[in-house]
Order: sequence, then structure tokens, then C-alpha cells
Amino acid sequence: MKILIFGGSGGIGLAIIKQLLTQGDNHVVATYHAHCPAYRHPQLEWQALDITNEAQLLSLSATVGSLDWVINCVGVLHDSSHQPEKNLKSIDRDWFLTSIETNALPTLLIAKHFGANLKPSLFAKLAVVSARVGSISDNKLGGWYSYRSSKAALNMLIKGISIEWRRLLPQACVLALHPGTTDTQLSAPFQANVAAGKLFSPEYVADCFIKLIEQSTPEDSGIFLAYDGSVIAW
Ligand SMILES: NC(=O)c1ccc[n+]([C@@H]2O[C@H](COP(=O)([O-])OP(=O)(O)OC[C@H]3O[C@@H](n4cnc5c(N)ncnc54)[C@H](OP(=O)(O)O)[C@@H]3O)[C@@H](O)[C@H]2O)c1
Repeated sequence: MKILIFGGSGGIGLAIIKQLLTQGDNHVVATYHAHCPAYRHPQLEWQALDITNEAQLLSLSATVGSLDWVINCVGVLHDSSHQPEKNLKSIDRDWFLTSIETNALPTLLIAKHFGANLKPSLFAKLAVVSARVGSISDNKLGGWYSYRSSKAALNMLIKGISIEWRRLLPQACVLALHPGTTDTQLSAPFQANVAAGKLFSPEYVADCFIKLIEQSTPEDSGIFLAYDGSVIAW
């Protein structure tokens, strides 16, 4: 299979790449943004890409050829000057927009530009890493306004894309996936209170996600799944 991974330089993205390349005859094209990982493999091609740049997405869609799976592992929760908001006082307009621009909008543009690349595949999958905190019905604690809102928007986009693709790409399956708290730089500042056994390795999550994507069928399209296959309410 030929698989495109956005955010291949991240903790979860890189673990998925390594697993795909050791378990079968897969060809992987993977993107990085700030840093290109040292990992190399004859069946792996790295591409620099800023996922907030539509022209770069369009250019990649024009050159990458036919694809079987597209997996989007890009996400931001914090940076050197922003942490998830504890209250309304800490809302920063620009960070809210950066969160939407990085966590939500790219999946819409990926569907817009890469649907044609997926069209010839009999096993077409668009899988996007979301987060349980983007579930509106699951929000009991409040806070984390920018991240929660961007993932809630992402979830709505997944639903909408799955409905449109029922007509345009009926063989495709579109999935929102929740990894659980996973040991990457994204979750590093928030791992202290994670219950014993509930901080997952990227390798474990990659294994769960690949199985879920493999097993999914067009009838599952537009669903929000946790790493263990349980359905998360929107
Ligand atoms: N880790 C968790 O506990 C957890 C829990 C729930 C959901 N998630 C979700 O899982 C996904 C993967 O996160 P992770 O834990 O693997 O985090 P990570 O290690 O920080 O990886 C984030 C990835 O996003 C890429 N990225 C950020 N901004 C970008 C941009 N403008 N253009 C292109 N790529 C960009 C990074 O690229 P560079 O490094 O090259 O800049 C990196 O590949 C995210 O969507 C996150 O929200 C994670």
C-alpha cells in the first residue's frame, strides 16, 4: 500500500511510520515541519511541509500519486509561550486561531486536495488523530478552550467529509482517532496525574491505530474511535 502521513516527525506519527514499514510491503511518504527525523528506510520518503499552507498541500497532492491511506498526526497543544488555558482570562486570540489553523482546518484541505489521490484505491482511508477532549458531551472540566475547540471543529469536519464522500468516494472510510495520553512532547507537561498504566507508548498507540484503520470499512465512516476501538460520543 502507499500511505501518506502528515506529522511523521511527531511521537505518534513516527511510531506509525516505523510499524508500517516493518510489518508489510508499504511505501510511506511522510511530512515533517520544524525538524526532519534521522529515521531512514528504503520505502520511506520525507517531505518538508507546513500544514497550514494550502499551496504546499496542493503541490504535494499534485506530485504524490495514488494513495491508499492518508493519516494526519499533526497537532499543537502548547508552545514555548502558550499553555492550554485554565480560564477565560488567559485566552489569547492569536493562539486560538493558531490552534484552529493547525488542528482543524488542515484536515478539510487534505480532504479537498487528496480525495482524488485516494479515489483509485479499493481500501481508501482518511484517519485523523483527534482527542477525546474535543468531545463536547465529554467536557466535564472546562478550560483548554483553544485545543478543545479546535478538536471539536476537527470532529465536525470528519463527520461532514464522511457524508460527502459517501457519494464521491463510497469505498473510503474516514475516521477520527483518540490515542489516549501518549508519551510524546505534546503531553509531556501534563503526564504527572495520569493514572498508572494509562500513559501509553507511541508504539502501543501506533499498533492500535493501524489495526483500527485496517479493520475499518466504509460502513464505519464518520466515527470517532478511541485507541481500544471503543466509540466516543461527539
Ligand atoms: N500525546 C497525547 O497524549 C495526545 C493525546 C490526544 C491527542 N493527541 C493528538 O495526537 C496527534 C499527534 O500528537 P503527538 O503526541 O505525536 O505530538 P508531537 O510529538 O508534538 O507531534 C506533533 C506533530 O505535529 C507537527 N506539526 C506541528 N505544527 C505543524 C505545522 N504547522 N505543519 C506541519 N506539521 C506540524 C510536528 O512537526 P515538527 O515536529 O516537524 O514540527 C509533529 O510532527 C496530535 O493531533 C495531538 O493533538 C495526542
